[in-house]
Formats: sequence, structure tokens, C-alpha cells
Amino acid sequence: MSDDDVELEARLEEQEVFEPSEEFVSQANVSDAGIYEEFDENWPECWEQAAALLDWEEEYDRVLDDSNPPFYEWFTDGTINASTNCLDRHLDERGDEAAIEWVGEPVDEDNVTLTYSQLHEKVNEAAAALRDLGVGEDDVVTMYMPMIPELPVAMLACARIGAPHSVVFAGFSADALATRMNAADSEYLVTCDGYYRRGDPLDHLDKANEGLAGVDHDTETVVVDRLGPNGDDFGHDLAADQHDWGELMAANEGATVEPVDRDAEDMLFLMYTSGTTGQPKGVKHTTGGYLSWVTWTSQAVLDIKPEDTYFCSADIGWITGHSYIVYGPLALGTTTMMYEGTPDHPDRDRLWEIVEEYGATQLYTAPTAIRAFMKWGKQYPERHDLSSLRLLGTVGEPINPRAWKWYYSNIGDEECPVVDTWWQTETGGMMVTTLPGVKDMKPGSAGPPLPGMDIRIVDTNGDEVEPGRAGYLTVNKPWPGMLRTLYKNDERFIEEYWREYSDVDSDDPDDWVYFPEDGAKIDEDGYITVLGRVDDVINVSGHRLGTMEIESAIVGVEGVAEAAVVGGDHEVKGEAVYAYVIVEEGQEESEAFRQEIVKGVEDAIGPIARPEQVIFTPALPKTRSGKIMRRLLEDIANDEELGDTSTLRNPEVVEDIRRVVQGD
Ligand code: PRX
Repeated sequence: MSDDDVELEARLEEQEVFEPSEEFVSQANVSDAGIYEEFDENWPECWEQAAALLDWEEEYDRVLDDSNPPFYEWFTDGTINASTNCLDRHLDERGDEAAIEWVGEPVDEDNVTLTYSQLHEKVNEAAAALRDLGVGEDDVVTMYMPMIPELPVAMLACARIGAPHSVVFAGFSADALATRMNAADSEYLVTCDGYYRRGDPLDHLDKANEGLAGVDHDTETVVVDRLGPNGDDFGHDLAADQHDWGELMAANEGATVEPVDRDAEDMLFLMYTSGTTGQPKGVKHTTGGYLSWVTWTSQAVLDIKPEDTYFCSADIGWITGHSYIVYGPLALGTTTMMYEGTPDHPDRDRLWEIVEEYGATQLYTAPTAIRAFMKWGKQYPERHDLSSLRLLGTVGEPINPRAWKWYYSNIGDEECPVVDTWWQTETGGMMVTTLPGVKDMKPGSAGPPLPGMDIRIVDTNGDEVEPGRAGYLTVNKPWPGMLRTLYKNDERFIEEYWREYSDVDSDDPDDWVYFPEDGAKIDEDGYITVLGRVDDVINVSGHRLGTMEIESAIVGVEGVAEAAVVGGDHEVKGEAVYAYVIVEEGQEESEAFRQEIVKGVEDAIGPIARPEQVIFTPALPKTRSGKIMRRLLEDIANDEELGDTSTLRNPEVVEDIRRVVQGD
């Protein structure tokens, strides 16, 4: 350890705070600490500041309509188009500046720069093409695409014609695609032939077609040719209801499409996310509130300015990519980067090479990536000049202080503030984090709630807990970026997010409390440390997975009688999937069967849900009422002392399982 490292280590142990540099503060978009008080005193009108970052067709009448909680409406009667805000309004001043810098995985392939004018052109052509296919306002268009430029083009084209998109992460399985298309009654799919992973072309259309076979209604599909001749081996022929993206775009060359005026409360997109039950939740985001929220947080927290080259390494298939690769950055007229590949291909310095080549000014990534970088060693970032970076961010899971420190020192050279941003698919954008030009940082703690947010840490009765004590995170006032409902399921929306801490029979918004299902604690300074999910959702490499979804995939494998899935600690992934499986009589507990189970999960959900360990066990620990005691299974996975087993119907089974896991 160098002297610097030793000093940092000592500061971490004392929970010392880190101040943003004067250089950063002097140029920050937000640097006036008075903003917290100002927003509190002027709530909800403070959110006009967010709406003011956008161009509205019709001005809104009211900032917030809270007459029917929890169905809040923001910027009511305003009309707005998201694609106009992300494109048209930048053309005069920034038409020739890069909107998207796209880096493909193969190093010898030409990267793509799309200026605002070029992106505007493509989005218009795509919008015309989608209309030709029959896409009308409010028709849900599904996108099952990896990180290729056509994905944001298609999203913005949908926004232009008022068709909500539903992007399904390309790593998800065919089954997952079918479930989501069926749930959204989506009749249109945009996908591609394939993409590159670690140097090889990967067939994607095959998986898309398999998914389409499971869709219960007619569909039209558009297929982007990503691989060119490198995809010839897959031998794809497009079916009658499948259209080539390139041909559609060529047929609409030079077309312009008038952006549709959308009501502020009209749906911009749907995003399916995992919950406690097996059925994914269709989170509905609106046009006015969502766009205001992601634009305001992009400028206040990520400090984005038009002249920046901003790099978020997330995938657009997740909410982070929607909010902070596409909508927020483009609404601000900046240059946003997209990288197709993995950070370790062809070598472990790929991200640093990209940062250096493009002079990236911000990097927003996940703790799991930082832990991997840390494991690979600092020689990789040291090969590159990273001095263009001004701010670093993390999202998706708690970041441990060691990883925070590594990021701060080795990537940010102790010059860049680190924003640890807590939020969710449902919140649309950031909720808890330091404003980098205002607040000091405490490694491991996300920071205080953003201005205008009323976030409290409470016990099971809803009473606030003392600083330092663990409790549950709750949001006590609505915010513009919040989900409006679960698609076509208002009841589940109330059950999942509100019932726990609200008086659901009340019309008074003060009686309504949003519960994100995270545990947290708060310190004397109001800094919040998020402890993780308190429901049956696990967080693998920043990806949110429902244990029930994985369990039903495992039980779907012939020969499996019962399964329980828990998250076990993992050095890089944060959590890993541990599957405890009881086999049916006559089924051998073999390695081959283990592989079958792993494949079953990959087929049903995708490789991200692949179990780290499949543990065969004769029984599962159950309470007297027959509920599986997951907490004990977690303790076993983490090799921790076992919690209370006295309420079990079958306490002896716990030690048996532990012996199996430890290989005794
Ligand atoms: O448990 C929290 C964790 O990720 C969950 C939300 O997952 P998802 O909807 O997929 O969105 C991820 C990207 C916003 C939360 O309920 N989480 C997210 N950010 C943090 C976090 N946990 C701790 N610290 C964070 N900064």
C-alpha cells in the first residue's frame, strides 16, 4: 500500500467525509446549498425548475394534482413530445455536434458518430417506417435489442409518434420476451440478427423467433442487420411478417414526421421489472413527469453540460440506460456514449481505452463493475490518461467503502466527486445521492435525499427509527418521475408499493407512503445507507431478479420436486443465485442434472439468472405453517452462524443442508 492508500484507509475507517474539489464546485451546475431549503419551502412548485428544462407545446396548468392518491398527476394539461426535446430543439445550436458516440465491440470495426442532425433524420425515417407498418399512438412497441445505435433511434421514433416502447434486455430469454409481449399486448417488435460477445457473433434472431412463437397474437417484426456477412452462418430468412430495418429506412429516406403532442401524463414507456411474485411488473412511466425528472437529475447530479462527453456503461435494456443514456443526456443536448461490448474484451482496459479516446467527462457505472476492475488491478486504468473525467457515479446496488475508495483514487485520481445514486425502475430517476457540487461524500452511504424529497427510515409500524438503526426506506411525498401504475393493474400497484405504510382508504395524500422494499439506515447528518432489498428480490451484478421467477424456472425442469432460491454474498456480483433443490423420486442427483437445472434457468430467464450453486437437499427448512425459511438458507450460503431455528417444523434439516454445502 502506498502512503496515500494508508491515509485513505484510515479516513474510511473513521467514516471521514470527502469533500468535492473546489475546481469541481466552481463549475458545478448546482452549487448553492440553499437549494434544499428552497425546495422544501416551495414544494411542489419547486419542480417547475425541472419542467422548465424542457420545451412544452402547451404549458401545464398545475404542477401536481394529488386529488386521487396514489394516482398522482404531474404538470397536468401540459403537452409535450420527448423526441422534440431530445432532438429538434438542439438542431440550431448543436446540429453538427455528436449526440451519440457508439463503440462496437470489435476493435477493428468503425465506430459510429451520430450528430444531432443525423440522429434527428434517422428518428424521423424510423418513425415514418413504424407508422407505415401500422403503429399508431398508444400501441406498445417492444424492442429486444442489444447496445446498437438503432435501439435509441427506435425508442425516439416511438416517442415521436406517441407509441410507448417496452424494451426487453437482450440477455433475457425467449420466454421472457414472450411473457412481456403478451402482458403488454404488444403487436410490434424491433430486434436484430445478432451482436458480438467476446469476439464472436451471437445469434439473437433465433431467440427472438423462439419468443415470437410464444406470443398469443399476431405481430409485425422489424429486424436490424447488425452483423452483415458475419451473420450469414446463422442462415436467417425473414418471415412474411418480418421486415428488414435497412429496407424500411431506405424506403423512407428523407421523410419527416410531425411529433405528436402528448399529454404530460401519457405513457412514454413501459419497463418490466422483477417483483416478489413470478409475474414481472409492467412499470408505467409518463412523458412530462419522467422526462422532467431525468433531465433535472442529469444536470444536477451527473453535472451534464452540452459540451460534455458523458459515458454510462449500463445497458439500455435496463432503466439506467433509458434514463441516463438516452432521455436525460439527450434532453440536455450533450454527447452520450454507447458501448456494445463487455469491459474485458479484448482486454481488461477496454473501458479506460474508450474514456481516453473520447475524452469522457463523466463515468456512470455499477459497483459490480468496480469490484471486477478492482480485482483485475490498477495496472489497467494506469495504461490510460483518464484526466478528462470530472465526475464518477455508481448505481444499482450498495457500494462497499473499499470499492468506493478504489474508484475514487484509481479512476478519479481523488479529483472527481463520486455520486452513489439510489433509485429504482419505479422511481424513474435518482432519489437519494449527494449533489456533487454541494455535499460532502461518505463512502458506503448514498447520501441525503435529493432536494424536495421526503424520505424517512421507519420501523414496521411506520415510526421513524433513530439514526444508526436499521429500518425501512419510505418515500412520503410524490415526485414527478414516479411510476404512475403497473400496466393495466392499478390494484397490484397499490398492493406492491403503497399498502404497507399507507391508509389506503384515505384521500389525503399525507396518508400515502411509497415503499420501495429496501432496508436502510440514516445517520445524524441525514445520510442514508441502503442495506438492500427486504423482499424476495435479489440483486446479481446490479440486475434485479425475483427468486420466485428463478424457482418456477427450476421447478419447470423435469425431475425437480421443489426448489428454493436465495442470494448468497459474492465478491464481484454482490449477490449470486443459490438454488436448493429437492429432486423427485428416482431422479439422480448428478452433475448432468445440475447442468440441466442451470440450462432451465437460462432458458426461462437468461444467463444473468444462472445459479452459482445448485445444492441438492432432501428437504427445505419450513415453518410450521409451511413457509420456506429463506433466511436460514441465506445464512448457509454465506457460511454464517444460523439464525433462530426454533420456529421450524424440521430443524434437523438445516444442519443436513449445511453439511451438503460444505461437502462433509
Ligand atoms: O435495492 C435497490 C438497489 O437496486 C434496486 C432497484 O433495482 P432496479 O429497479 O433494477 O434499478 C436499478 C437501477 C436504478 C433498489 O431497490 N439499488 C439501486 N441503487 C442503489 C441500490 N442499492 C444501494 N445503493 C444504490 N445506489
